[in-house]
Amino acid sequence: MSVTINGVAAGLPPDPRVSLLDFLRERLALTGTKKGCNQGGCGACTVLADGVRILSCLALAAQYDGRRITTVEGLADGGTLHPLQRAFIEHDGFQCGYCTPGQLCSAIGMVAEAERGVPSHVTAGVADEEVVLTADEIRERMSGNLCRCGAHNGIIDAIAATYGEEAS
Ligand code: FES
Ligand code: FES
Repeated sequence: MSVTINGVAAGLPPDPRVSLLDFLRERLALTGTKKGCNQGGCGACTVLADGVRILSCLALAAQYDGRRITTVEGLADGGTLHPLQRAFIEHDGFQCGYCTPGQLCSAIGMVAEAERGVPSHVTAGVADEEVVLTADEIRERMSGNLCRCGAHNGIIDAIAATYGEEAS
């Protein structure tokens, strides 16, 4: 059983009880993905599974046999930061940075959801093929990612500058 992490194949742990989060952090030393609550409430552990955002603390590593996982370590292109990473710097999207890896992965997954027309609680036209990422849409869709430093305004600004209605 193996999984591809940031483009590199890795053997899955034989113990089926190991969470994907612990597998990433403790076995592969990919400590960019953070453990906040470890019970699905904070979003710090968000990674992408085949482009879909998931909470790695609630996922068992063994479930991801044959899948493609992207963590924050896989967002930059060599020495070039991902545009959203640059926007977080430019828009003061973090203070301590603990929630940031989850915020980044979650935002990238969130944009893909909007492109597929997946509605949120605040979407007016639920039948629309694509959802425009207004500030309200971004706020609602990112509400599962908490920031104890209160950097939410900068986070929303960074996402809006990269993917929002004025960026498109
Ligand atoms: S550590 Fe996974 S949601 Fe908080
Ligand atoms: S920047 Fe500190 S928790 Fe978000």
